[in-house]
Amino acid sequence: MSRALFAAAVLAAAPIAATVAAPVSAHAAPAHAARVHAANAFDGVWLFDDAPPNPGVTMLEVTTRGGVIAGRVTTRWYGPIAMQTPHVENGVLHFTTRNINDKAHPTRDWSVALEGGKTGLRAHLKGQIWESAIDSKGYRGTSADARARAFHFAPLPPLGQPIPAHLAATPPMGWSSWNKFADRIDDKTVRAMADAMVATGLRDAGYRYINIDDGWQGERDAQGVLHPNARFPDMKALADYVHARGLKIGIYSSQGPRTCAGYEGSYGHVQQDAQTFAAWGFDYLKYDLCSGEWFYPDADTVKRSYHEMGAALAATGRPIVFSLCEYGRFDVGTWGRDVGGQLWRTTGDITDDYATMARIGFDKNGDPAWAGPHGWNDPDMLEVGNGGMSPDEYRTHMTLWAMSAAPLMMGHDLRESTGETLALLTNPRVIAIDQDSKGIQGKAVRKVGTMEVWARPLADGRVALALFNRGETAASLALSAQDTGLTTVSGAQDAWTGQASADFGATRTVPAHGVVLLVVSGH
Ligand code: GLA
Repeated sequence: MSRALFAAAVLAAAPIAATVAAPVSAHAAPAHAARVHAANAFDGVWLFDDAPPNPGVTMLEVTTRGGVIAGRVTTRWYGPIAMQTPHVENGVLHFTTRNINDKAHPTRDWSVALEGGKTGLRAHLKGQIWESAIDSKGYRGTSADARARAFHFAPLPPLGQPIPAHLAATPPMGWSSWNKFADRIDDKTVRAMADAMVATGLRDAGYRYINIDDGWQGERDAQGVLHPNARFPDMKALADYVHARGLKIGIYSSQGPRTCAGYEGSYGHVQQDAQTFAAWGFDYLKYDLCSGEWFYPDADTVKRSYHEMGAALAATGRPIVFSLCEYGRFDVGTWGRDVGGQLWRTTGDITDDYATMARIGFDKNGDPAWAGPHGWNDPDMLEVGNGGMSPDEYRTHMTLWAMSAAPLMMGHDLRESTGETLALLTNPRVIAIDQDSKGIQGKAVRKVGTMEVWARPLADGRVALALFNRGETAASLALSAQDTGLTTVSGAQDAWTGQASADFGATRTVPAHGVVLLVVSGH
């Protein structure tokens, strides 16, 4: 490619274009214009060997032609990031870059200063993208280095036909490693969780999936096959171990080059990874957008990227539940099923505190119109048992998830389940509400001050009715038949205690951040 073409290609670089531009070569600076001269000093390839892993800058390329500067920064997370409006001011190269989908900061400012040092000239690169600050120094490289470090774009297929749904007739229940262990997860701990799932009775209460979240991945081999890291010596043996206990096992990847914790993603290896997961015996895949948001920044490309993996999973012939994690963007519930998903995250990440849990559970749990058998809004995993909320707050957490027909993925260390935690997680009446076969997602029907009344019609004609108090002090409210959608109420049972509720219409006092959950009969 000519230098002019390269400059144009860099300036216009479309993130999905299947092209890797030729490297830039240094050229002599013209003597006539100081400004051009300064710009040309940046020209060439600069290599970064020890830049922080996120976004993992590997290379800076700059070219100047006729005073017009073009260039890009290549990263492990996002591939090549094109320079926008590059210009030299006081000897420093300035440019901006597209900043993912951060509406508050659609672009970020970057700079390159040339600095002499004992070991030669260095390009001092500073900038920011998403949450990562960049401050690294690169040294001159050759065009061969640039070729070796070039990012290889993967083509994105057009959107295929809707993928038929047959899994997850009710919301999946299980455990995931992320909330408690983050990426400090290993084979031994996963086995211990499978054992604890059985020993605690959680399996028999309905929790079936043992899901390994981010942090299991190692490197790809010469054939592109992804291998686990040293903490997971044998994935097939681990899956067998979990299956032998009457449980199912899940795994995690991303359509981007890097997962959210910086591990190897499935970019460019989608079909191959689906085959690998199926061959190991996995039953569930959480597919997290992460660095893929750079390549798939809009509804069309995000859908296609999920459909690509949904179709690849279907092609394995193994039933694998497909969990979409793109934080609820682009009305995911309107297309999640079509791309093969059985559940889709509706929010950013939960944390183990009431404020975050309540914001998600009350207000960001997904449109009830989207939910039903084989397709569920996923307000993220449970924090019950992790210690950051009071018993009333955790009861509210479980109640909100059950009323929302949400997947119940526990997130604590199952070996440390206290009696109180198990009582919250295994209450058969609460689980029955969550798992109700009709799959109607409940919603708020009345809000009075800090109180919210939620109703969820059940398959047998009864109605689950929750009275939440979001306030900091106890509050009181009387329920009415109107809240239930029934004409006449004939009886009510407190789902948490199992007690019959004698006077349905009585004023009820609910503690701060607490809840009363009833199952109401009538017609
Ligand atoms: C994202 C997801 C989390 C978890 C982490 C793993 O933040 O939303 O649920 O999977 O990535 O890195």
